[in-house]
Amino acid sequence: MKLSLLIFCLYFCLACNSDEDTYVPISEDKALDFPQPDFFPQPVYDLDENPPTEKGFELGKKLFYDGRLSSTGVISCGFCHIQEFSFTHHTHEVSHGVNGALGTRNAQPLVNLAYFNEFSWDGAAPHLDAFSIIPITTDVEMNETVTNVLNKLESDEEYIDLFSIAFENGKVNTQNMFRALSQFMVMMVSADTKYDKVLEGNAVFTEAEAAGKALFDSKCSGCHEGILFTDQSYRNNGLPIDPRYNDIGRKRVTGLETDKYKFKVPSLRNIAVSLPYMHDGRFKTLKEVLDFYDSGVQLTENLDSVFQQSNSIGISLSETEKEQLIAFLNTLTDDNFLLDRRFSEF
Ligand code: HEC
Ligand code: HEC
Repeated sequence: MKLSLLIFCLYFCLACNSDEDTYVPISEDKALDFPQPDFFPQPVYDLDENPPTEKGFELGKKLFYDGRLSSTGVISCGFCHIQEFSFTHHTHEVSHGVNGALGTRNAQPLVNLAYFNEFSWDGAAPHLDAFSIIPITTDVEMNETVTNVLNKLESDEEYIDLFSIAFENGKVNTQNMFRALSQFMVMMVSADTKYDKVLEGNAVFTEAEAAGKALFDSKCSGCHEGILFTDQSYRNNGLPIDPRYNDIGRKRVTGLETDKYKFKVPSLRNIAVSLPYMHDGRFKTLKEVLDFYDSGVQLTENLDSVFQQSNSIGISLSETEKEQLIAFLNTLTDDNFLLDRRFSEF
């Protein structure tokens, strides 16, 4: 069975102990307005099916920062997804989970998830509500069972109260837990960068930023496309294969040879703070990323055709062009989002 299908089925098996699929918040709870920016596409996440509410969000946040979701009681979602670094695991190439266990991939930023079709570097999770089961049950991440987590939550009065107000059936169950986590995560909308202000006519680019934008539009936006800075496709950008992990990328999910070494094109919003870079965190700086695109791209299986258009492989860039591109990429940082107290642990 395909990995994505397996995860999906697993999720629905676990979720099937609930009585209803839709619910409306009861009177003690209030609907939250989803902060849809004017110039963004419509969310992919079905906000009618799981509408964020005050208590659902509060519950999701409590779960997100609770170490009890892991077997050792100390690894919360927020341990690997730190807000000020765009919810990434700052300075960690690959993630560290329970008892320091090493994973094989770099923790992804949690930004604008409401607009994504699929989740993880290879798209293993086809729905946000189905995602959280992966970190909870993965041995090198939280290494816990969903049943144990629910038992722990059921012995905590505060959780019982929150579940009973946030969801119509009031139950402490798998479906409600994952829906609450999703309510917290879909509200993480980031659209208040200098780039956005320029779009709205409220700021102007410096000369270097403007030159960087022109370069970006001609050399990068084919993949890091549009307002989300990703076309959400899976591509091989020619990273040398790291024999320590030998990560086959999207092929892990589809089984297709033509997907070997392809990874999801990442969004570049808040890229200046979400280092280190790439699925295995191999580059520490944006300069290293651009040096790689300029002279490090390898002709591995399924290398994207964009990188094979001239005599040399990759995207040729001068030192000045690299500086201009970095100036542009720095306009994609949204400080208000990174410091927004609604998402902070304390
Ligand atoms: C041990 C570190 C670690 C912990 C703990 C952790 N994550 Fe992650 N997270 C990662 C890594 C690594 C990835 C990339 C996974 C992959 O591609 O296989 C990721 C990816 C994600 C994504 C996908 C983002 C995207 O753009 O597709 C979401 C959503 C997410 N995590 C949410 C959570 C939630 C919710 C929890 C807690 C239940 C959690 N994570 C706990 C390390 C962690
Ligand atoms: C053919 C599609 C494609 C093009 C063109 C492309 N990229 Fe990428 N980019 C990717 C993919 C795919 C990844 C993730 C690769 C991985 O981790 O295996 C990536 C990763 C990155 C990252 C790291 C992001 C992170 O969160 O770790 C940065 C920064 C980046 N690209 C910037 C650029 C810039 C700047 C350009 C233009 C000079 C560019 N890219 C051109 C597909 C592309």
